[in-house]
Amino acid sequence: MILEVVSSSIIGGIYLAAKLKGGESPTNDHQKIKMIADAVGLKKNGQSIRIHRKYHPKNKHYTEYIYQIPLGLSLEDFQEKHQKFEDGLNNKQTRYLLSFKDLKKIDWKELRKINSLKELPEQFKRMFGEKQLIRKSVEMSFDGMLKIKVYDRAMPTYLPFRESVWEQCKKWHVPIGETKDGVHFIRLDDGHAVIAGTTRYGKTTFLHLLITTFLKLHPDEVEFSLIDLKSGLSFQRYKDCKQVINMAEDLSSAHSCLNDILQEMKHRKAWFKKLGVEKIQDVKQPITRHYIIIDEASNLDYRRMELKSKKDIEAAKFMYEQCKSWMKMIACEAASLGIYLIFSTQYPTAEILDSQVKANTITKICYRLDTGTQSYVVLDHTGAEEITIKGRAIVRTPDGTVQVQSYFLDDQQIEKVITPHIIIKARKDDEDETTGEDPGETGEDTLIIEPV
Ligand SMILES: Nc1ncnc2c1ncn2[C@@H]1O[C@H](COP(=O)(O)OP(=O)(O)OP(=O)(O)O)[C@@H](O)[C@H]1O
Ligand SMILES: [Mg+2]
Repeated sequence: MILEVVSSSIIGGIYLAAKLKGGESPTNDHQKIKMIADAVGLKKNGQSIRIHRKYHPKNKHYTEYIYQIPLGLSLEDFQEKHQKFEDGLNNKQTRYLLSFKDLKKIDWKELRKINSLKELPEQFKRMFGEKQLIRKSVEMSFDGMLKIKVYDRAMPTYLPFRESVWEQCKKWHVPIGETKDGVHFIRLDDGHAVIAGTTRYGKTTFLHLLITTFLKLHPDEVEFSLIDLKSGLSFQRYKDCKQVINMAEDLSSAHSCLNDILQEMKHRKAWFKKLGVEKIQDVKQPITRHYIIIDEASNLDYRRMELKSKKDIEAAKFMYEQCKSWMKMIACEAASLGIYLIFSTQYPTAEILDSQVKANTITKICYRLDTGTQSYVVLDHTGAEEITIKGRAIVRTPDGTVQVQSYFLDDQQIEKVITPHIIIKARKDDEDETTGEDPGETGEDTLIIEPV
């Protein structure tokens, strides 16, 4: 709900209205836009901008006004006055984004004591704080006509995940969060992804959303290798899901896991050759997509470990170098085979995020980073260092760069999705003994004992 406190003396008295979202007449905004354009000199030979059309798309948070502009003016002329348009559209109105719960906080006794209109916004600020204060924002573009999008809210700062969003997902898309335009999906079946961000800004939260989304929407077509090098705890809850075929939590188990992936790549390559196909999209037979999720990839680096003996250091160095070279191979060759690397790190330096891995990454998701240089390593531009909100990310794909507020998925929502997929898995040592079966041709059969 958007609550507007209009404090203009022109309106003539206190006007306090609780309106549903989008309740404000767009005509008012058009009139304001025209008045602002005239006032800041965006006129030629006495001619003002002329409205051609207004458009309010369903499920979007904006209204678009399309104008014919006087000859001799350009988009740049309007963009130069961008701030004037935003300020003008927010003039005389203080708008709050409130829930019904917030409405209960209104102290009507206090409100009645107000003598002057000027006190009203202050009183609301005291009741609700700055947090829910919202401003309209403006975006401009030109395609022969000037298009001005007026967003009726700023991007939210916290977005609990709604399960209904899954109903809108196309195949292998993850609903990462919302932009000013509404739900934003990222496609994860056409290449690898990098997720970067300083501590406690939302990387692992997004990884939970990714895993849960695919378990929910494609339970029979997905497999995971989960490499949690931070604490080993984040992915524990998935360890008994039948889709999780490998879990690792240190260098040695990550090394073995990546080695398994290389075998899987060899196996898929041989199979594709037999089928005479080049990429997974051409395979007609059922085939799984395999996601290798590495949370805190920098912890593979042996120099970050407390190793004492020379022998241990040498062994860790060897495994680390091998892991790095395998990750490069995976980044270069695996996507067409349906194997994808989701690489998450707090420290996006050139050492951790190898240039070949980066070059082969289609999706870049960047939460707050400490420096512009780090932002540059991930996104090829600065900006992530200016993020101050948890869950706020810059997402870069070949389609462009957008800012999103990521969804926050809670533990209960995760449990609900994974519970039907939990099975009792055999421990590695028991495998031969338990099943008595030979491993498959490639030695990669997953040994599972289903509960009776
Ligand atoms: N999308 C979000 N919206 C709101 N708050 C969030 C969001 N994502 C994370 N947070 C908050 O930040 C906390 C840390 O999130 P998360 O564990 O995802 O961070 P991280 O980037 O993985 O940190 P680290 O690098 O230390 O592992 C969460 O417990 C939650 O309170
Ligand atoms: Mg984390």
